[in-house]
Amino acid sequence: MLRWGVMGTGNIAHQFVSDARHGSGGEFVGVYSRSQQKADAFAQEFGLQHAFSDLDAFLASPDIDVVYIASPHTSHVEQAQALLEAGKAALVEKPVAVNRTDAERLYQRSQELGVFCQEAFWTRFNPAYQQILEQARDGRLGALRHGQANFGFVSPADPEHRLNNPDLAGGALLDIGLYPLILTLDLFGEPTEIDGRVTLGETGVDRSADLVLSYAGGERCAVHFSLDYELPQTAWISGENGWAEIQSLWFAPNRAHWQVGSAPVAVEHYPLLGKGYHYEFTATNEAIAAGRLDCAEHTQADSLTLIRLLDRIRDRWGPRYSFE
Ligand SMILES: NC(=O)c1ccc[n+]([C@@H]2O[C@H](COP(=O)([O-])OP(=O)(O)OC[C@H]3O[C@@H](n4cnc5c(N)ncnc54)[C@H](OP(=O)(O)O)[C@@H]3O)[C@@H](O)[C@H]2O)c1
Repeated sequence: MLRWGVMGTGNIAHQFVSDARHGSGGEFVGVYSRSQQKADAFAQEFGLQHAFSDLDAFLASPDIDVVYIASPHTSHVEQAQALLEAGKAALVEKPVAVNRTDAERLYQRSQELGVFCQEAFWTRFNPAYQQILEQARDGRLGALRHGQANFGFVSPADPEHRLNNPDLAGGALLDIGLYPLILTLDLFGEPTEIDGRVTLGETGVDRSADLVLSYAGGERCAVHFSLDYELPQTAWISGENGWAEIQSLWFAPNRAHWQVGSAPVAVEHYPLLGKGYHYEFTATNEAIAAGRLDCAEHTQADSLTLIRLLDRIRDRWGPRYSFE
């Protein structure tokens, strides 16, 4: 049984540690926070034995084997690298790094040290998402021609909030835009062309985008994401013999509508336990037990492909962060 720690005590740290109880092969035993008070409160909430606010003590702890990094994007690489150097495996929230150069550096270090390092892209581990994609790719909809996916909500107004703050690599693309883009990669790979419009806001971060991605075979994808307005969290996959509409939340789904040929629309349900974060927790435990440095569901190479696409979009439309 692997012993887990978590870095950060915010929104996703709560959701992930709570969901991990549905998983297997490991258990959370410790937490690191910049504040001892927050670490103590988090440890008490989840019944963890160890609460750290001293980073060196956390890194040196003999009681922790693997760490889930749930801090803002800008801390991911530095924290992950410190963990790897300390011999601890790292499951790093998305995006694993702000740009490709940093991600490559991190994964190279993982390979050199032989220590597991994984981007926590939970959608790729979700069995319903995997099943829907598999059926679409296996011809249920005929030849695939088009994909579409949304992710939109109104971010908190506070300009210092991590979503709005350029110093924390705020913006829509790195936080939510990467979800619709993972579907496009799963359907058609890397695009030959990207067109669209991206809006930057007052703090300088990107707020919303409508992008069209084109592929060598003539296929296309449309993705829409925003921190300024709500969007239905649905996705569509279209082929020459039908379409599938993955219902909200499409990136952690439990229902899809299938229109195939002339048959009536079929509503299909997929059981989902908890919110669905435990799948990547269990997969990580299994991968480490098998001596892997990443998970087959979303390898380090897959993660680099994603970040290359994010870099392409930011190179064209921004934002460029001052610390890059
Ligand atoms: N997979 C998903 O579904 C999902 C969902 C949401 C977010 N995320 C990812 O998870 C990461 C964290 O997002 P979140 O929504 O949980 O953020 P959050 O609620 O703001 O929590 C981030 C935590 O990181 C710690 N932290 C360390 N350095 C910080 C700094 N300079 N400023 C602020 N906090 C700092 C804080 O904990 P202490 O004060 O205890 O140190 C804070 O509570 C992001 O990279 C995001 O992309 C993933």
